[in-house]
Amino acid sequence: MTGRRFPAEERKRLSDEERRKKQPAEEIIDRMSPSPDEVAADLGSGPGYVTIPLARRVAKVYAVDVQQAMLDALMANVPGELDGRIVPVLGELPRIPLPDGSIDRAVAVNVVHEIEDLPAFESELRRCLRPGGRLSIVDFPKRETSFGPPVSERLSEEEMLSAFPYFRKVKAWSYPEFYQLELEMY
Ligand SMILES: C[S@@+](CC[C@H](N)C(=O)[O-])C[C@H]1O[C@@H](n2cnc3c(N)ncnc32)[C@H](O)[C@@H]1O
Repeated sequence: MTGRRFPAEERKRLSDEERRKKQPAEEIIDRMSPSPDEVAADLGSGPGYVTIPLARRVAKVYAVDVQQAMLDALMANVPGELDGRIVPVLGELPRIPLPDGSIDRAVAVNVVHEIEDLPAFESELRRCLRPGGRLSIVDFPKRETSFGPPVSERLSEEEMLSAFPYFRKVKAWSYPEFYQLELEMY
């Protein structure tokens, strides 16, 4: 964790063909098993690789990102049928600029390793999630993979789990390029 941010000018890489093959957004969302009535937050949404397909599967998605250029790119891509279902929120994690108990689930894809203060992040998640709320984390294993940040900036699955002591592991998936954790708030 270095606080280094994915550069907005390279955002096209976040939805290129290579990524679509290696880390399909629909499969991430299938593993989350969202319900149509849920409100979600996509934390560090970037230009919406997961936000947009997730908005088709839930009632509303708050897209939180620290870079306005990412949120602008996201909103420019939202198809008409999803009007009003994606709410862009400019903000810098670990603070989550949403009201207490306002979300059923949060997802952070390829972003938690970029957050400096994970205890503060967990505490914000506990504030914003409704009781029994879910947290989905997708991040990179602590070894070389074909894409992702330097290994020195990554958290292993075990390190990631131990950074969220107020969440229990519901399920975990390990793939060659990334892992996904489904956690539920105690
Ligand atoms: C590698 S990109 C991933 C974007 C998106 N989740 C995806 O899977 O395509 C990381 C994103 O997290 C955002 N980000 C990094 N640190 C952040 C922070 N402290 N607060 C909010 N957003 C942050 C960056 O601006 C960037 O859009």
